[in-house]
Amino acid sequence: MADTPALELRSVHQVYGFGASATHALDDVHLTVPAGRFVSLIGPSGCGKSTLLRLVAGLEEPDAGVVRVHGVPPQQACAAKMIGLVPQSPALLPWLSVLRNVTLPQKINKGAGRRRERIVADTGPSAAPSVSDMRELLVKAGLGEAVHKLPAQLSGGMRQRAAIVRAFGLRPDVLVMDEPFSALDEFTRESLQDQLLDLWDELRTTVLFVTHSVSEAVRLSDTVVVMAPRPGRIVDTIEIDLPRPRNERLFRERRFHAYEDLVRDRLRRAWHGAAA
Ligand SMILES: Nc1ncnc2c1ncn2[C@@H]1O[C@H](COP(=O)(O)OP(=O)(O)OP(=O)(O)O)[C@@H](O)[C@H]1O
Ligand SMILES: [Mg+2]
Repeated sequence: MADTPALELRSVHQVYGFGASATHALDDVHLTVPAGRFVSLIGPSGCGKSTLLRLVAGLEEPDAGVVRVHGVPPQQACAAKMIGLVPQSPALLPWLSVLRNVTLPQKINKGAGRRRERIVADTGPSAAPSVSDMRELLVKAGLGEAVHKLPAQLSGGMRQRAAIVRAFGLRPDVLVMDEPFSALDEFTRESLQDQLLDLWDELRTTVLFVTHSVSEAVRLSDTVVVMAPRPGRIVDTIEIDLPRPRNERLFRERRFHAYEDLVRDRLRRAWHGAAA
């Protein structure tokens, strides 16, 4: 089981609509992600990033091809609560406080732990965090004042942070995040990147992360996957060979910027391909 990749997509196709108006959201996508890797998807709008995430999270079935999460179909991995999803827009329950929103998944998922242990033997520290752990995580995410507020009383960025904390709280084996930081100001964004990296360091969760920010992708990732649209496909896979922890000092280093230039260059080609 140890060699089974955390994520595997083989010859995946996803088409929306029919005939001349069909959209080829994903065309022959192959991707293998070993357990514990941090992988970012980057590419022009409409190249299939969210579609790929939905397939991995078991929200949709591919029209063709195979998707596996730790060797099992995504729906099975979902039932075992192995997958944590932070969607492009946060979905919090409007009638529950922030604290109750983030602690709810552990309360309703008690049976999932056993199913999960059967699929992944070495899940690491998977004990569900307590309410006080979750409160601490909320404080770290800058939501200390907001724990008893309702989602409607929060700003968009605060809601997004609550959704991120909730996903972390499940201690998933695979964390799937769709542009989680895009609505945040630069400093909040950097601080959440720090927290995400700290948590990832501790939990060694496999992360699949969508972003439009080149520097965010380079800073966070072991691997940056560049996608292009029409049809949606993977055009490049870049390994980011930079030491960790990736803190502020790294931002001043030449090799960090060299990777940014490389990803930007590949992205530019994907854009030109898209415009052609
Ligand atoms: N449910 C759907 N029905 C029809 N077309 C869809 C559906 N979902 C996605 N598409 C189309 O599939 C393509 C890929 O969409 P997707 O949302 O995966 O792109 P994306 O890379 O996440 O874009 P963005 O960066 O704007 O979020 C787009 O052309 C989109 O219009
Ligand atoms: Mg998207």
